[in-house]
Amino acid sequence: MKTLVILAHPNIAASRVNQRWKEELLQYPNDIAIHEIYKEYPDWNIEVPKEQRLLEAYNHVILQFPLYWYSYPPLLKKWFDDVFAYGWAYGSTGDKLKGKKVGLAMSIGDKKENYSPEGSVSFTLDEVITPFKASTVHVGAVALPYFAVFGASFQASDEEINRSAKEYIDYIFTYQQ
Ligand SMILES: Cc1cc2nc3c(=O)[nH]c(=O)nc-3n(C[C@H](O)[C@H](O)[C@H](O)COP(=O)(O)O)c2cc1C
Repeated sequence: MKTLVILAHPNIAASRVNQRWKEELLQYPNDIAIHEIYKEYPDWNIEVPKEQRLLEAYNHVILQFPLYWYSYPPLLKKWFDDVFAYGWAYGSTGDKLKGKKVGLAMSIGDKKENYSPEGSVSFTLDEVITPFKASTVHVGAVALPYFAVFGASFQASDEEINRSAKEYIDYIFTYQQ
């Protein structure tokens, strides 16, 4: 398998977008591995060496999640805090993520036009994900352009979500090599 998707949804059973995306990812078992951290760690006790070995095995990693308060769901933030450790991810001997391509696949509740300086959010999505980009730089990885679907709370129709699932696969394959 060539791409690792770290999927972080606190309630995937109630999800429209991330659940549909997951179904689409499952159609490509030879190319895409899915690692659902909320399923793997219901007690939030992340097995750091296991996560690090998993990341070491892939050069292309996607973090898939619904945007919560302009950020990651909390277990994904903890995953970063625990797994991207000194001496492994950064520091004089911490080079294990160096050169890896890392992307974000996000479902966004609000409308696209609100993510602009003039919109109700006041910031673009590219600005919102600055902490991710800074973290990627810090560990010497390559931040890929993000993939996102907007209007995920109410507006997006089943048709749009189905289309986004196909586009998500195209996005993964574009950056897989
Ligand atoms: C706790 C919480 C925080 C949220 N914060 C945001 C936010 O900051 N910006 C936004 O556009 N949508 C926000 N939303 C909406 C989610 O992004 C949206 O419900 C999700 O992307 C839908 O994907 P799903 O169908 O896979 O659950 C939030 C939702 C919840 C439950």
